[in-house]
Amino acid sequence: MSATTQPRLVWHDVTLFDGHDTLPEPMAVIVAGDTIERVVPMRELDPNETADCQPLGQGGVMTPGLVDCHTHLVFGGSRADEFERRLEGASYEEIARRGGGILSTVRATREASEAQLFSLARPRLEALLREGVTTVEIKSGYGLSVADELKMLRVARRLGETLPVRVVTTLLGAHALPPEYKDDSDGYIELVCREMIPAAVEQGLADAVDVFCEKIAFSVAQCERVFEAAEAHGLPIKAHAEQLSNLGGSAMAARHGALSADHIEYLDEQGVNALRESGSVAVLLPGAFHTLRETQLPPIAALREAGVPMAIATDANPGSSPLFMPTLMLNFACTLFRLTPREALAGMTAHGARALGLHTRQLGRIVPGAPADLCLWDVESPAELAYAVQPGRLRQRIFQGQRSLH
Ligand code: NIG
Ligand code: FE
Repeated sequence: MSATTQPRLVWHDVTLFDGHDTLPEPMAVIVAGDTIERVVPMRELDPNETADCQPLGQGGVMTPGLVDCHTHLVFGGSRADEFERRLEGASYEEIARRGGGILSTVRATREASEAQLFSLARPRLEALLREGVTTVEIKSGYGLSVADELKMLRVARRLGETLPVRVVTTLLGAHALPPEYKDDSDGYIELVCREMIPAAVEQGLADAVDVFCEKIAFSVAQCERVFEAAEAHGLPIKAHAEQLSNLGGSAMAARHGALSADHIEYLDEQGVNALRESGSVAVLLPGAFHTLRETQLPPIAALREAGVPMAIATDANPGSSPLFMPTLMLNFACTLFRLTPREALAGMTAHGARALGLHTRQLGRIVPGAPADLCLWDVESPAELAYAVQPGRLRQRIFQGQRSLH
């Protein structure tokens, strides 16, 4: 049914988390087409107003559709062997330095065809949809050649065309140094700036550009060159920064007006201030923190005090976060990072959307005029979504005003 012929939809008596807060009284929500039309307390609802609406639910907790703003869902191969090596004592960094880690996924991703990558990624994405995700960011970064990075981005785009979810693509060419450029990392950065970014832009495949700013990846100066190339092509930027050490990548990204700085366990006070001044989002990835058994906590109290918006994402990837369960990340954000359940939920709704630059369209909110991406949960209170780790609580998932539960 087209948006114009579809009847308006109404939910009654829901406990509403609007992307920032839980409203103090039971609410009704009215959707027209693909947009939220009205959000009204039950006691103010005039039954005549909803007489022509299709009633879709009564009771339960309603949240915006979840926004997973940082994933690496498209990849070939598995890193279970590396998981075992880490259990025997090897570190993530050691494995990476010996050509494993990201580079082992690069080998498998290069070998896979576009069709194979699509069929591998689809069930991973479906797992996110079953948990309430309606917007997902998907990065490249396991191709590391122009052809293979574009191949990954095409798969990401196709996933968004095939499944009922909004896919935002990010070119992460500067993720690791490919073997062909061993000992010539500046040469590889040149390729990213001069060929990869222009080709991705020309083919409309990238919505943003990301880098991995770290000793085992690229320097602050190299990442800055990538940002300048992205800016020249009008693309927004974001950074994996301060994950394993403090190089100052987040502050540099903030100076360039980055949408977000992600990981940031090693972020210092200067970095926090830089994010505050630029309005960038701090994207916290408790799945990677957990998987790598990191002990350095991101500076949550300082971020909170500075009013830096904090987003939460799965970072779903084969190495540092093979975790495809967004509500588990809400739990981890609270248990590991001591966020409140309200902060964690805002991190996967309103602030997740901000980390993708989509807050301007009110994505991640339940307010009039926002996109009708909604989740109705069989729980007593929004806090329960973070408190209990329990799949199967999603009663309804609405994407662009259409009911679609996967
Ligand atoms: O977000 N930090 C770098 N990149 C990914 C990990 C990728 C991998 O290990 O395959 C991350 O943690
Ligand atoms: Fe990542």
